[in-house]
Amino acid sequence: MIRLDKYLCDCGIGTRSEVKKIIKAGRVSVDGGVIKKPEDKLNELTSIVTIDGKEIIYETFSYFLFHKPSGCVTATEDNLHKTVMDYFSDVNVKNLAPVGRLDLDTEGLLLVTNDGELAHHLISPSHHVEKTYYVEVDNQIPPESIDIMREGIPMDGKLTKPARLELLSDTTARLTITEGKFHQVKRMFAHVGCQVTYLKRETMGTLTLGDLQRGCYRKLTQQEIETLKKK
Ligand code: URA
Repeated sequence: MIRLDKYLCDCGIGTRSEVKKIIKAGRVSVDGGVIKKPEDKLNELTSIVTIDGKEIIYETFSYFLFHKPSGCVTATEDNLHKTVMDYFSDVNVKNLAPVGRLDLDTEGLLLVTNDGELAHHLISPSHHVEKTYYVEVDNQIPPESIDIMREGIPMDGKLTKPARLELLSDTTARLTITEGKFHQVKRMFAHVGCQVTYLKRETMGTLTLGDLQRGCYRKLTQQEIETLKKK
């Protein structure tokens, strides 16, 4: 059992004081009856809660897909640059954090959630979650890079795990890796003599960026969340 005001805050409806106002205005019903006391308790698993007649689904965790633009850092705070979390200033959910890291100049798919367990699963190298990057480089990618990247490149004292390289043109490619070492994609291309000039993450596990615009986010669908959690 939890308090009605906490329930609505957890659902991202607003701050404690905002949701109290909504409750006191008589806009909230629990199991069909209007409740005007924020401290009244309800069963978060079984109660049906509505605001202005619209049902609110209780979510303990929130999941957002974000299209990170270049020029913002994957951090919750930074003295110098805009952070990924600055794009979420209108989202009223506690402890949101990006899952994994994209470089300042990398764009693309970033999951932002307060579900620490799922985050851990997705970034843990032992779980081999695939991440696909679209890559542009400064000169011709040697065709033998496909084999070199599949066989592994020395990095931080070990070989990188088998990676899938698909050449799209002389200077563009898609690379799928299952790890997240520091600057990994840039270092893998440097190994074959190419400097990355543009990098964008297109997929992570079962998530794809789709047509989400740069600097925008959307909530994951229930189905996307369930599929991600299937380990
Ligand atoms: N690899 C990189 O080099 N940079 C990123 O941002 C992500 C993967």
